[in-house]
Amino acid sequence: MMKPAIVYVTRTGHCRTLAEMASRIAGGRVWEIGDKERRNGFFGFIRSGRQSTFNMATPIEDPNADLHDIDTLILVTPIWAGKLAPPVRTWMRSHVEEVRGKRILLIASNSGGSTVRLQQSFEKEFLPIDGLLSVPIQLSEEQKLEKLEAFLGKS
Ligand SMILES: Cc1cc2nc3c(=O)[nH]c(=O)nc-3n(C[C@H](O)[C@H](O)[C@H](O)COP(=O)(O)O)c2cc1C
Repeated sequence: MMKPAIVYVTRTGHCRTLAEMASRIAGGRVWEIGDKERRNGFFGFIRSGRQSTFNMATPIEDPNADLHDIDTLILVTPIWAGKLAPPVRTWMRSHVEEVRGKRILLIASNSGGSTVRLQQSFEKEFLPIDGLLSVPIQLSEEQKLEKLEAFLGKS
């Protein structure tokens, strides 16, 4: 049986739902990375896209997830400008040594865009991943749950 920690960030709630679903399926505690950047409105959107494009790490409130006794990290992130949301980068930079050698699964919430650059940029900066699931926000809750069950069931 998997012993995961589930870590996520969210701007509009989709990743929280996915993280909670993942916990119901695979067990493990859920930890939210606190995003300290202002991201509301048009300028917040543009700033967020720029930060992602330029691989920036933005200020967070670290949830101090307990990573000692886990074998798997399930990281749930929105895709911004094709890549990792910057608060997740900040978190990974602080914790990469703690998760080295553990299984890493990425769950990428998106609005239909590709996850190829996300995987490439994540693996280039951090560690190889063991699985990536793309979850478009347009899917129903039921469809999301089915996708997660299939992904986490076989991972
Ligand atoms: C700044 C910004 C850039 C985005 N870029 C992409 C993108 O490149 N591809 C894509 O499919 N969705 C993109 N989206 C949509 C988000 O992935 C989607 O809103 C997110 O998964 C919702 O998750 P959340 O509710 O947890 O924040 C972008 C959203 C924002 C705010």
